Amino acid sequence: MYIFTTTLVSTGMLRLVWGILFVSFCLYTGWVYLYCDEKKDVAQNDPAVTEGWHLWQQKNCQSCHQLYGLGGYMGPDLTNISRDSSKGEQYMYTFIKYGSGRMPAFQMNDDEVYKIISFLQWVDKSGKSQVPEEAVHWTGTYFIDK
Ligand code: HEC
Repeated sequence: MYIFTTTLVSTGMLRLVWGILFVSFCLYTGWVYLYCDEKKDVAQNDPAVTEGWHLWQQKNCQSCHQLYGLGGYMGPDLTNISRDSSKGEQYMYTFIKYGSGRMPAFQMNDDEVYKIISFLQWVDKSGKSQVPEEAVHWTGTYFIDK
């Protein structure tokens, strides 16, 4: 009798727990779907940025450089190079066009180099490479516009 009652109670409890998990899953999925949709097409607004991004991928810049701390570590993080007043467009142009002792030259024409620069300028506007404390949400994610 005791075992019978216990089984009944735990089946009910189990259903309740699964029910709560299922409803939480649906609510969370819906929230992520709605929340992530907001900023989908920022890069697509400017074709030069999109083409610069493709070149960035084709030339595999990220194998040596990081964006937001992710990528290779042979060269420096380039997320915020555009806002660095000691560097600027001409500085980036020279590196990308001619390389340096440790960075290869990529034989790109000026148009391609400037597209990559547009891409890096766009990346810079999206936030800072180091996440500021106040931008971290309690869920562990962070807001890129803070
Ligand atoms: C083989 C590794 C490698 C690849 C691939 C590479 N870089 Fe570099 N890059 C470096 C290194 C190393 C430096 C630092 C060189 C130095 O200071 O002499 C650097 C420096 C730079 C700088 C100057 C950064 C600063 O803050 O002074 C820019 C801009 C840059 N790279 C852009 C690019 C772009 C754009 C690409 C892709 C087209 C690229 N790099 C591909 C290794 C690489």
